[in-house]
Amino acid sequence: MGTLLGVIASPRKFGNSEIFIKEIHRCLEGSWDLRLVRLPELDLRPCLACYQCLFEPMRCVQKDDLELVLEALVHADAVVVAAPTYFLGANASLKRLLDRGLSFYAHIDALWGKPAVGVAIAGVPGLEGYTKLMVDSFLKLILADHRGSEVVYGALPGEVLLGEDGPAAARKLARALELGADGSDPKTPRCPLCGGDTFRFLPPKESKKSEVQRIRCMTCSSEGTVRWDGTSFSVETVRGDHPFFLSREDAVAHLEWLRTMKDLFAKRRDELKAVTRAYKDTGTWIRPEKK
Ligand SMILES: Cc1cc2nc3c(=O)[nH]c(=O)nc-3n(C[C@H](O)[C@H](O)[C@H](O)COP(=O)(O)O)c2cc1C
Repeated sequence: MGTLLGVIASPRKFGNSEIFIKEIHRCLEGSWDLRLVRLPELDLRPCLACYQCLFEPMRCVQKDDLELVLEALVHADAVVVAAPTYFLGANASLKRLLDRGLSFYAHIDALWGKPAVGVAIAGVPGLEGYTKLMVDSFLKLILADHRGSEVVYGALPGEVLLGEDGPAAARKLARALELGADGSDPKTPRCPLCGGDTFRFLPPKESKKSEVQRIRCMTCSSEGTVRWDGTSFSVETVRGDHPFFLSREDAVAHLEWLRTMKDLFAKRRDELKAVTRAYKDTGTWIRPEKK
């Protein structure tokens, strides 16, 4: 109980993302205050890659609505994010916010471990592409306790709650928020370290025949293997040198690593300049005419 923040990555008012979040809120027991942000209507500018937010006073130099969203995330007790699929990925408003994620590190302690769930919505069954992976990445990068995510289908506004599957997914995610377990299908192979279910196949280390396929978890970046034992697939992954993020300490370590890049850049500035200078006059830029 407390404040539930609904992050809607759809421009459509009363669209599927909005009503799905509201349905999860309805399914929660007790009294939850639902606060909502609709990302496409906010002024969230592209990251400038200046890295200034990593150093005191740890604030983005751009004056837009980022602080508004950060405040809402920091003060929420739990988070639900819903993103519609646009051309096989989440609506770009979610990525725009994610691209400003260096600013999240100023709030590691306040953000770490908030219960959170997500939903990827697609109009055509099977055409959700990588939307769920983006939703999962969002929950990871806001440092939340990822308690479950689902793909649900519906094209027309409201369609996602017609039929059985959408309402069942909303109930399941509400229970996950409350109880901490999402009751995911145990037959779905998952990364044992982070629960991610999207993997990249990696080439074998030796060319010999093997019943084991090397993989990388696309959610936490850990490498491992997937094996078919005749009945089911089992996934094993091990912590790498730079996991994204399996613990609060991983997030702090990543922040420290990013900060060291400033000194590294200063040290190697001449060497790097020599590389980039060689490309200075290559190509013709296409830009709008100045008015
Ligand atoms: C520009 C655009 C691209 C879309 N691309 C896809 C797609 O690649 N796959 C898919 O299943 N649905 C696609 N859809 C359909 C939406 O995902 C679907 O209508 C969803 O319910 C919208 O959610 P909303 O009501 O919360 O906006 C697209 C919709 C738009 C407007």
